[in-house]
Amino acid sequence: MGETAATGSPVISLRGVRAELGARPVLRGIDLTVRHGEVVALLGANGSGKSTAVRAVIGQVPVSAGEVELFGTARHRFRDWGRVGYVPQRTTAAGGVPATVTEVVASGRLSRARFGFLRKADHTAVRHALELVGMADRAKDSVSALSGGQHQRVLIARALAAEPELLIMDEPMAGVDLASQEVLAATLREQVARGVSVLLVLHELGPLEPLIDRAVVLRDGCVLHDGPPPKAVGQHALPGHDHVHPHAPEGAEPLRTGLLS
Ligand SMILES: Nc1ncnc2c1ncn2[C@@H]1O[C@H](COP(=O)(O)OP(=O)(O)OP(=O)(O)O)[C@@H](O)[C@H]1O
Ligand SMILES: [Mg+2]
Repeated sequence: MGETAATGSPVISLRGVRAELGARPVLRGIDLTVRHGEVVALLGANGSGKSTAVRAVIGQVPVSAGEVELFGTARHRFRDWGRVGYVPQRTTAAGGVPATVTEVVASGRLSRARFGFLRKADHTAVRHALELVGMADRAKDSVSALSGGQHQRVLIARALAAEPELLIMDEPMAGVDLASQEVLAATLREQVARGVSVLLVLHELGPLEPLIDRAVVLRDGCVLHDGPPPKAVGQHALPGHDHVHPHAPEGAEPLRTGLLS
């Protein structure tokens, strides 16, 4: 968002962050800043540490060195989770009790609700979020009856329902068809226009490209690039990108697959 973003106060700040998972160093001293009103893409090959970095921000991964701040507050003292919307990377693991679409999205309001009771404003926000992602007609359905891409849209609605100031999304476009990607891009554009700051883990910029102010590329748990997003290309054209598919015969062009390369 131009010059104001470059000088805006940080909503996410990671400095020299290290994390080990199962004795393996996964983050090896990364710096990552998202300023107020900025849209930052976090890119990198599979296993480079993108999800771990994002999970370190929201406190799901312990950090062994460095500093993590949210809205200028050290993460371990940060309590204002209603300001943060989080969409986790989709996994194939089925989640416990089958819930309805509305219940899942309403869970995004819990940090705002008093004593766990949703009030009228909460229900309105839930309905609005479902409309934004085009899932209002499935509100009463069980999430177990949804396709993968529809499920992803429900998770995005859950994050939006909280009306956060900061949205953190881990590969929100994975498994979502092009038409729905356009819907989500429009939704995100609306959020950005409202002044929401965004950190997006992506494999390809795709329809989100025009929204992105800055790209941070990870390789092997280190920051390889922090600057302008690469123009009109996917991850394969990034500097230092070494994600060559192992089965390609020697001399063959690397495969250019779609979203989940
Ligand atoms: N719970 C865990 N225990 C041990 N190792 C882990 C754990 N979670 C992740 N890792 C390892 O940390 C590294 C980084 O994983 P991470 O999920 O952050 O990568 P990523 O960049 O998000 O990859 P992808 O593009 O596949 O989502 C990988 O080598 C992975 O095997
Ligand atoms: Mg990941």
